[in-house]
Formats: sequence, structure tokens, C-alpha cells
Amino acid sequence: EQLQGLKHKRFLITAGGTRAYIDPVRYISNRSSGKMGYAFAQVARASGAEVTLISTTNQLPVPVGVHLISVETVTEMQQAVQQNFADADILIMAAAVSDYEPVQFVDHKIKKNSKTKQFTLELKETPDILKSLTAQKKKQIVVGFAAETDDLLQNAEAKLASKGADFIIANDVSRGDIGFNVSENAVTILQRQHANITIPKMSKQMIAKKVLEILAKRFS
Ligand code: PMT
Repeated sequence: EQLQGLKHKRFLITAGGTRAYIDPVRYISNRSSGKMGYAFAQVARASGAEVTLISTTNQLPVPVGVHLISVETVTEMQQAVQQNFADADILIMAAAVSDYEPVQFVDHKIKKNSKTKQFTLELKETPDILKSLTAQKKKQIVVGFAAETDDLLQNAEAKLASKGADFIIANDVSRGDIGFNVSENAVTILQRQHANITIPKMSKQMIAKKVLEILAKRFS
């Protein structure tokens, strides 16, 4: 069954957690599985859209007909999004992007030093992919997430204001049954000048479908 209005629309969707490398064998990441982003890719493709999926994971089946770009780091993800943004109609940033990364990448495996009981790793801010893209936005609809463990709606509203996205999808990630690395989710959609829309707990596929139904209205 196709969602009206998405046929031939060009989607750019990010999925999974980025890796911030410390040395060639170690990295900092997060619990994102990519399931939410892959669900968007599958539903959009089934609706006749052209989908490019920028993903950090190889653990999930790529929906038939979806163009996959594999990345690991924030820099690689940013480059891939940047290269494909001008041609896109919709960007959905479902990836869990590292906010910080090591100041210095050490190009060999850091040795364990028996004399050092503590070790300080210095981190610096990463570029905000979503914000850099909304600054260049023309016709595109840009959708970001807000993954929060506390003050969900207040923090999501702040992200709607600061990131320049058309939609922010507020995602409570304090619960074990929704959010990171599970098959179900529950979200609230925030848009400027519209009432919030809450979608109760259901499969990530169904969440994606309901969100895309709302997005599709912007095209009709
Ligand atoms: O992958 P799953 O296991 O299915 O889990 C799904 C999910 C919980 C990861 C997903 O639903 C989700 O909430 N993704 C966003 C996670 C996140 O990074 O949220 P944030 O609130 O830290 O960031 C806000 C937005 O800015 C996000 O759209 C993020 O992609 C984007 N961002 C963040 C930092 C950065 N440097 N660049 C960005 O573009």
C-alpha cells in the first residue's frame, strides 16, 4: 500500500550510531541499532520514493531498491549527507550522531601502561550535521530527532528552535521497551505552528508510516 504523495520523492535517511575512533581498534559509540532509520527507508521505498540510506550498521537487511552508503564516523556521515542533500526532497536524521570525539586520533594501538592507573581522554565537539544542512535548505523538508532521557518535550522544543528542522521527533530513550536497539518505539512529533502529535507505542515500521503520512501532507 502506497502513501499518497511520496512517489518519486527523493529521501535521504541516516541510521545507526556513529563511531568516534580513539585509535585503530577502539571507538566511542552508542546503542543505536539503525532499526528506526531502516524502518523509514523501507516504508518510503514501499511508497514509491527513491531512497538513499546512509548507515553505520551492516547488521540489518537493506530494503530492496534502497541505495546504501556505508559510513562510520561523523565526518563520513556529514560528507555523505552533504553530497546528496541538494538533490533530496526530504532528509530524515534518525542516526545517533556522536556529539564529541577524541581531540586526537592515535594512529597505533595505545599500549596499556602498568604505571598509569588513570587515563584522561580529551574530547571536542563534532560538527552538527542537521544544523549545517538546515542552513543550506531550499525546498527540502528536514526531519530531526531528539533523543532524551529527561524533560523530553522541553528539550525537543529547544532542538526544534535551535536546529532549524521542520519536524523534530521527540524520542524518550530512558525506557528499555522503546527507543534504542528494540523493535518498537513511541514518539511525539513537533512542528512550528502546529499542535504536537503523539504516536503511542507500536512497531518502528508503523511509527515510520505514521510519520510519513504527516510528512506527505506537506507535498499535497
Ligand atoms: O537506531 P535504533 O536502535 O532504532 O534507535 C533509534 C534512535 C533512538 C537512535 C532514534 O529514534 C533517534 O532518536 N535518533 C536520534 C539520536 C540522536 O542523536 O539524538 P540527539 O537528540 O542527540 O540529536 C538531535 C538530532 O541532531 C538528531 O536528529 C541527530 O541525528 C542530529 N545530530 C546530532 C549531533 C550531531 N553532531 N549532528 C547531528 O546531525
